[in-house]
Amino acid sequence: MSCTVAALLAAALGPIAVAEDRIVGGERVHINQAPWTLSLREGGNHICGAALIAHDIALTAAHCVVDNDDLSVRAGSTNRAEGGVKRDVRKVVRAPKYKEGESDHDIAVLYLERDIAYNSNIRPVTIAESEVPAGTRALVTGWGVLTEGGSSPENLRGVVIPTVSLRTCRDSYGQDAVTIRMLCAGLPQGSKDSCQGDSGGPLTDHPFGEDPQLVGLVSWGRGCARPGYYGVYTNVAQPALRRWIHEETGK
Ligand code: ARG
Repeated sequence: MSCTVAALLAAALGPIAVAEDRIVGGERVHINQAPWTLSLREGGNHICGAALIAHDIALTAAHCVVDNDDLSVRAGSTNRAEGGVKRDVRKVVRAPKYKEGESDHDIAVLYLERDIAYNSNIRPVTIAESEVPAGTRALVTGWGVLTEGGSSPENLRGVVIPTVSLRTCRDSYGQDAVTIRMLCAGLPQGSKDSCQGDSGGPLTDHPFGEDPQLVGLVSWGRGCARPGYYGVYTNVAQPALRRWIHEETGK
């Protein structure tokens, strides 16, 4: 697939390589390359990403689903505004320890009104059972803005970035800001990152490869793609969070 080649090239050449469209510093991704990626919508507007984990269950960031109504998801479409399948969200369950306005425990389960059938553009992602080591290449996908403060793309984008250690991440954000429920990913020089509107969306290992596992959900960052700062993700494989997901969803 040409995107695999593009991703490898981008990884090899670094930030200078991809000048055109940017998630930030990324590339266009067809939904069939990350078919678990959902657009979470409030009243028909894209607000966040989400990850499909079963016919009628998805994960997103808790901060995406405080105090909203008329939530739905769109699956199976590269274009965030049309195509694929839409389902209303029937119930939202935020992590019990999530506190509004904070970024720890930033995860919620979405139960859909009705099952979504799988096809080449719609497939659930397996949730990682254990944490991946720092330096693992990972893919984040979403319809978030292309630059800090910039505009949102119509079509899905993705970027491949390495995970970094908590220690490295704490060096930039401070010891207390980054908890063990978080996973950081990105480049020390910035330039590739998720951004506003990507929140809740999936970070998976084995980019464009076999047997991808969900390792994170887009959560927060200082700006986007800034040098010296990383994207921060909800660490879904952290044992206590992983256990909660399993108890809540059976997955
Ligand atoms: N909080 C943002 C959202 O709601 C996501 C920010 C991610 N930031 C980053 N630098 N990776 O969409």
